[in-house]
Amino acid sequence: MLIRPFRESDTDAVVALWSAAGLVRPWNDPRADIRRKLAVQPELFLISELGGAVVGSAMVGYDGHRGSVYYLAVDPAQQGNGFGHALMAEAERLLAELGCPKIHVMIRSDNKRVIGFYRGLAYGQEQAETMGKRLILDES
Ligand SMILES: CC(C)(COP(=O)(O)OP(=O)(O)OC[C@H]1O[C@@H](n2cnc3c(N)ncnc32)[C@H](O)[C@@H]1OP(=O)(O)O)[C@@H](O)C(=O)NCCC(=O)NCCS
Repeated sequence: MLIRPFRESDTDAVVALWSAAGLVRPWNDPRADIRRKLAVQPELFLISELGGAVVGSAMVGYDGHRGSVYYLAVDPAQQGNGFGHALMAEAERLLAELGCPKIHVMIRSDNKRVIGFYRGLAYGQEQAETMGKRLILDES
């Protein structure tokens, strides 16, 4: 298994991966999300590859205060094989290298199951509400 930065030729495979992992929502155009990430810290958009196929992704970022990881996904057929841990370890390594003091991950309220995964990686639940405001409406 290899972890490397995303390449544009991965686009279709990554969209299929996000779909299979249940991360695509009608209000987020995955191709627009990829385009935007390629304009900001593209080196932190990570892919895990197995035998030449895309099996995982993590869209990592650092805003100068906190680090973030979005679109953490592993091919359902490959889940439980350590790819998720490996992607998070690489995300943490790269963020620490940039001097990032803390990572935040957002978990959709309908995805409580993944809390166990992050707890296993020593992430703690915080007393905070998340609020958001859409600035660009993606066409679906
Ligand atoms: C979360 C996800 C990336 C984990 O990837 P993975 O490659 O299966 O994870 P690993 O094999 O490294 O780790 C598996 C460990 O985490 C736990 N785990 C994995 N997915 C879990 C889940 N959804 N809920 C609870 N625990 C989970 C397993 O119990 C296992 O622990 P163990 O080794 O002690 O048994 C993967 O399940 C996934 O793509 N889920 C769908 C997309 C998603 O929810 N992404 C996160 C958005 S916030």
